[in-house]
Amino acid sequence: MVKKKRERFVDKGSEIVRQGETEDDRIMNLSLRPALLKDFIGQDAMVDSLVIALKAAAKRNEPMEHLLFSGPPGLGKTSLAHIIANESGAKITATSGPAIDKAGDLIGILTNLSEGDILFIDEIHRLSKVVEEFIYPAMENYQIDFLIDKGPYAKTIKFNLKRFTLIGATTRAGLLSAPLRDRFGMFLHLEFYPPEELEIITRRSAGLLGIPIDGGGAAEIAMRSRGTPRIANRLLRRVRDWVEVKSDGRITREAAIKALAVHGIDEKGLDRIDRRLLEVIYSSYKGGPAGIGALASALNEETDTIEDIVEPYLLKIGFLRRTPRGRELTEEAYRYMGKMAGGEGESNSL
Ligand SMILES: Nc1ncnc2c1ncn2[C@@H]1O[C@H](COP(=O)(O)OP(=O)(O)OP(=O)(O)O)[C@@H](O)[C@H]1O
Ligand SMILES: [Mg+2]
Repeated sequence: MVKKKRERFVDKGSEIVRQGETEDDRIMNLSLRPALLKDFIGQDAMVDSLVIALKAAAKRNEPMEHLLFSGPPGLGKTSLAHIIANESGAKITATSGPAIDKAGDLIGILTNLSEGDILFIDEIHRLSKVVEEFIYPAMENYQIDFLIDKGPYAKTIKFNLKRFTLIGATTRAGLLSAPLRDRFGMFLHLEFYPPEELEIITRRSAGLLGIPIDGGGAAEIAMRSRGTPRIANRLLRRVRDWVEVKSDGRITREAAIKALAVHGIDEKGLDRIDRRLLEVIYSSYKGGPAGIGALASALNEETDTIEDIVEPYLLKIGFLRRTPRGRELTEEAYRYMGKMAGGEGESNSL
């Protein structure tokens, strides 16, 4: 299968879809999405505080505080928003920052909410300024201000909303304006998952999809999933395709290694874009620092793609360092690249 280009957000109603994610991938992710907290694996500390907030709100018979999920793509922010709705029996309306381009769109959504409903706004850092300012009084005291008429007859009318909970999700908490950030009662940050948890997630997904997999196969997929459940699900599918064609349909460690090699995914989970990024910093910038814009154009990718998708994991595993003047390779990265150059001839394909 042709290697798909990662990312680029396309709005399809309320679902943010990634270009390069096939329709099948998208449907599969929906069917694998955990529906209740008991199915949600890992992120224990964050889940604990969530449970407390849910219980406290239920006890007071009040809607939950507005809350903001942040963290790299594919770690479960959207899943959690739906889980909260399921657990609290609330109705959820899902939309996304780029989908609301006029304040009018938001008025429609807000005025349709009932007491205790959840409004989920994905990629909330991409809300326009106008819409954002409109949302402040809605979050703060469940009111919106309508502007009626123009010129000398203009007047604002306050409209009371039902008490709802806003759940925002963002891959870039740093881009949120301070006034918007301040109106959330809770911030929950999702971290990359350790391989043990990804192994459980992979087994769960395989179980749901009826894919035979052994411990070695699940561990191998987990190790190569960049700490990200969505990637674990995607790799599981790719390996499944491979074993169905090339072997007996069972996923073993050996099969996973072979199948993922076909897709250019190595034992660290890095793919061709990651390796090219490291290589560009190494060969064109003598190891860095290299500015993000320059790197993006060298790789023919958008800056956002590099910042949202490629770089976070490289930073997390200590291959990149962020400095005020740009990105630098670390010792770890040099070691990895040295191995690559002496290894399976991978460096030729960079
Ligand atoms: N903790 C988890 N346990 C089990 N499966 C998970 C977990 N987190 C995520 N997944 C799986 O990963 C998929 C992607 O999760 P989700 O769509 O919630 O990510 P997200 O954080 O909203 O990503 P994005 O920022 O890209 O929108 C889900 O469909 C689900 O199958
Ligand atoms: Mg999401």
